[in-house]
Amino acid sequence: MFHYARPFLKWAGGKGQLLPELTDRLPTQFRRYHEPFVGGGALFFHLVNTGKLDHGAALSDYNRELILCYEVVRDDVEALLDTLQVHAPHFNDPEYFLEIRSWDRRPDFAQRSAVEKVARTIFLNRTCYNGLYRLNNKGQFNAPFGHYKNPLICDPVNLRTVSDALRNVELRVGDFDTVLDYAEPGDLVYFDPPYVPVSATASFTHYTGQTFGENDQRRLAQVFTNLAERGCYVMLSNSHTELAREIYGNLLNTVTSIVHASRKINCDGKKRGNVEEMIVCSYQARRNGVHP
Ligand SMILES: C[S@@+](CC[C@H](N)C(=O)[O-])C[C@H]1O[C@@H](n2cnc3c(N)ncnc32)[C@H](O)[C@@H]1O
Repeated sequence: MFHYARPFLKWAGGKGQLLPELTDRLPTQFRRYHEPFVGGGALFFHLVNTGKLDHGAALSDYNRELILCYEVVRDDVEALLDTLQVHAPHFNDPEYFLEIRSWDRRPDFAQRSAVEKVARTIFLNRTCYNGLYRLNNKGQFNAPFGHYKNPLICDPVNLRTVSDALRNVELRVGDFDTVLDYAEPGDLVYFDPPYVPVSATASFTHYTGQTFGENDQRRLAQVFTNLAERGCYVMLSNSHTELAREIYGNLLNTVTSIVHASRKINCDGKKRGNVEEMIVCSYQARRNGVHP
């Protein structure tokens, strides 16, 4: 029986809501797919499910723990399912949550197996407040317990489907600019960076203990331009703010659209509601595909 592969982690900035706008702007054809801020990978999974990844894909992110999740789901899904089954009965137990959360404060954490670490990450992701991935300044996970009535901790069907979807996918930990080492003409690169804050009081996002600031946004605009000049199809989403418009809205030979999206969790995990976002493409996209 055919199953759709779905994101297996809740991730701040998840693109589920924006998917129709993004898919409307995809090129009709492209070679390899690159997603250097993969997060929960909503667009990647859509492309898998619609059979658009004949030429393969490369996913990367700065967050080492996140990429380890993708690696273990790809390479060791049965052992992961066994370990998740151990956590699953404790879905509504704040003490168990705190015990599992405290592992990264102990000296033996580094010795734990990749499967144990990833089962912990998935368990915390499902049971913590809003699926928030938050680290303190020592790099220790510190999102609070979420009080969910019935969170799905172990989802064998989806995890096995995702494992198959990742079979020939390259996974890397690293800064987004390493895509310059791998992307070739005709490839599609989708950038979904931590967004420019929507208000002066909202701070730039912490996903990895690192801040993604204005300099990073400007660096990203330069990488976008370099890839476009190389002949890649480049698509980027961001918040629609004055600064984002200044940085990305004036890039040469690009098409910018302003779209509305309703966000479940935004970057700081607190604000909800309707926000304006911008999508910038290095090519002329029309509904249902690109017309060169
Ligand atoms: C907005 S999220 C991506 C959301 C994702 N597209 C989805 O659908 O769930 C941004 C991601 O960028 C990653 N990140 C932050 N700084 C980075 C950097 N300098 N290079 C690469 N990835 C980075 C974060 O770890 C986070 O996973």
